[in-house]
Amino acid sequence: MSETRIRLGLLGCGTVGRGVARLIKENQQDIQRRVGAPIEIHRILVRDKAADRGPNIDTSRLTTRAEAVLDDPYVDIVVELMGGLTPTHDYVATALNQNLHVVTANKALIATHGTALFTTAQERGVALRFEAAVAGGIPIIRSLREGLASDRVQRIVAILNGTSNFILSQMSSNGAPYQSALAEAQAAGYAEADPSLDVGGFDAAQKLTILSGLAFGTPLDGGKNVHTEGITCLAPQDFTHARAMGYAIKPLAIAQKEDDCVHARVHPTLIPRTSLLASVDDVFNAVHITSDGLGPSLLYGAGAGMMPTAVAVVSDVIESARALVHEGSDSAGAQASPIEQMPFAAAGDFDCQHYLRFTVVDQSGVLATLSTVLGDQNISIASMFQTKQASDDTPVEIVVCTHRARLPDVNQAVSIIDQLPIVRQPTVAVRMDSDL
Ligand code: NAP
Ligand code: HSE
Repeated sequence: MSETRIRLGLLGCGTVGRGVARLIKENQQDIQRRVGAPIEIHRILVRDKAADRGPNIDTSRLTTRAEAVLDDPYVDIVVELMGGLTPTHDYVATALNQNLHVVTANKALIATHGTALFTTAQERGVALRFEAAVAGGIPIIRSLREGLASDRVQRIVAILNGTSNFILSQMSSNGAPYQSALAEAQAAGYAEADPSLDVGGFDAAQKLTILSGLAFGTPLDGGKNVHTEGITCLAPQDFTHARAMGYAIKPLAIAQKEDDCVHARVHPTLIPRTSLLASVDDVFNAVHITSDGLGPSLLYGAGAGMMPTAVAVVSDVIESARALVHEGSDSAGAQASPIEQMPFAAAGDFDCQHYLRFTVVDQSGVLATLSTVLGDQNISIASMFQTKQASDDTPVEIVVCTHRARLPDVNQAVSIIDQLPIVRQPTVAVRMDSDL
């Protein structure tokens, strides 16, 4: 370790990196008091040295060569804020193998390569910390690993993607078109470099994989066992119909123990407007945990954005810095052994209620046809209504809410119905939970 001060090597200096620099500058004295030594940013890897980095970055520290950070003998802690898997995985593995503590905000990296990286960290006696990788500034990793270390978790129901929640909130509250809501989320720095990770549900699936690994001991397999649906199928009238029935539409991530395995899924969901999660709007995230001892608990806070994410990153930096200053071996970032080691259930093999919006011609026999196909697939109708026809030759919408039904059965029914000549537009199917 370099003497008297802790020096950081940043890999990446975009939205989160600039927030980290600002927090370290503005709170320098408090941080020094908490660590027992000052923390400074020593090297910063970027792609473009000429880009404007704002007032908190010393541009003489910028480099475009990764070795200038990873091989610098004065760097004590590597802070990875680049995102993605390549070349990030190589850089993080190299840092750990050089006995450097690593802090990352990268959920794709932890959800995909976490197991091997934690093993390396443990072998090297250093820590790989990742509080910012899930739910932005909310201290959910510490809560699961430490606060609930003695408890047994049964279920996690969460809003884990700030961008999707922001878009759905905008569409629901002021009828904003999807594209303009997405553009606003991107301008605010919430979205991933590739926003299809957000709106396609993949970012939330990676985060759920990490939480499920901590809570249930399921494998860090990149999210491939999480059934994943995005928010792009939703149209403004779905929010209107949901509201009329007393529901909100939220981008949920659910991991639930059932029959010795864990069912994990990410999809927009109709939930009662009275549910706690229904009032989590804009970029906010929330994680609702049900565990045996504590019962239900809820963590809530900003799930994305420069400063909330920086708070989580710098809290990890402070923890690693303390270990360095007090010269203890520190592999606490290695995945704490969960109480159980459970497998995932096959993705998509679950049952729940469903909201189905059919766009069909308005003629006799249509309802009977729809209900026959649904009945043939063991799908029982709980309620339904039809919208008013605008003129004689326009289609109408029929909204059907089902009782619990298996997802494969619903998918089969929808694909049969969408081939029928009475159908004017592909059916929209959204999952629903009246008990949340
Ligand atoms: P960002 O604004 O796109 O910044 C990425 C930074 O990494 C940029 O400085 C970029 O350099 C640099 N970079 C990317 N690829 C590089 C390469 N191959 N070589 C050198 N430098 C490279 O991203 P961000 O929003 O800060 O997100 C960073 C990480 O935090 C991601 O893993 C993200 O998932 C995670 N995260 C983000 C948020 C959020 O609200 N934004 C919240 C939680 C977690 P240039 O600037 O020169 O292009
Ligand atoms: N793109 C992510 C989100 C950033 O919108 O939630 C926080 O991980």
